[in-house]
Amino acid sequence: MNPLTKIEIPEVKAIYSGKVRDLFPIDSEHMLIVSTDRISAFDHIFPNGIPQKGIILNTISNLWFKKIDFIKNHIVEANFNNFPAPYSKYPEFFKDRAVIVKKTKRIDFECVARGYIIGSGWKEYKDKGSVSGVKLPDNLKLADKLPETIFTPATKADTGHDENISIDVMIDSLGQRDAAFLRDMTIKIYEYGRDLLKDAGIILADTKFEFGYDNGEIVLIDEVLTPDSSRFWDASLYSPGKSPVSYDKQFIRDYLDTTPWDKNSPPPPLPEDIVQKTKEKYEEILAKIAKLLS
Ligand SMILES: Nc1ncnc2c1ncn2[C@@H]1O[C@H](COP(=O)(O)OP(=O)(O)OP(=O)(O)O)[C@@H](O)[C@H]1O
Ligand SMILES: [Mg+2]
Repeated sequence: MNPLTKIEIPEVKAIYSGKVRDLFPIDSEHMLIVSTDRISAFDHIFPNGIPQKGIILNTISNLWFKKIDFIKNHIVEANFNNFPAPYSKYPEFFKDRAVIVKKTKRIDFECVARGYIIGSGWKEYKDKGSVSGVKLPDNLKLADKLPETIFTPATKADTGHDENISIDVMIDSLGQRDAAFLRDMTIKIYEYGRDLLKDAGIILADTKFEFGYDNGEIVLIDEVLTPDSSRFWDASLYSPGKSPVSYDKQFIRDYLDTTPWDKNSPPPPLPEDIVQKTKEKYEEILAKIAKLLS
């Protein structure tokens, strides 16, 4: 099956096109979010997609949105059979990969929780001994477990790379109360997911959430605990000091590190075997999460 990387219908134009999702209009309070099969890494979208990836991401997010009952989320309708026209005419674009959500005033910070040190966190720790202003113990090894979950927010840059910031930047922008709520909620959802996934032999190393204001109330939006937003490691193969075996985008990043692509120019297409392997990893994590949550 061909990957779905572009969605166009004659009746309406998308309001916005992100790296992975396209947003379509519903009414003044609602919109439709459709997850395409596009894949991005290092903030670049690849010309080819991963077949079914959008369906996998949407399915995983919806399972978590249903399960997490201690914070409100943006979902209004996840069943394609209840979608209005013109979307109902196009199951090939919207079935199993779209949701109708509450439009919120997005909070322009990525809310990241980390239980392990890896990725941009590892880089920053090697340079400074801290991540997003959180001081960490000396002598941590790559992929080591942290003594406790840390909150390491980042800016949501419209262009260019997201940048890790300290919580003080959030406090300046959102106030003490909302910044503390976001920190506590981010850690709470991460630890909730981490504890559940442990029973499936998965280590949830880190994850990123987005939140928005819905009539002044902070709600969970976008995607939740998916392989695009999280690092899932195979617990049985975990060994600090080594790059972990993962069920997420890390496979693509590791592959890209072996290519001459400079991460600063339009990327070349991903080779077919990398596409297939990534698809398998996403399918595997979906199967594990579905078994756990449904
Ligand atoms: N309920 C919501 N209210 C407002 N914005 C939302 C909501 N849910 C998701 N979004 C936004 O919709 C977009 C989804 O697109 P996608 O995930 O592809 O974006 P991205 O490329 O990851 O990030 P961005 O385009 O924001 O840099 C994001 O900008 C996300 O912040
Ligand atoms: Mg996103």
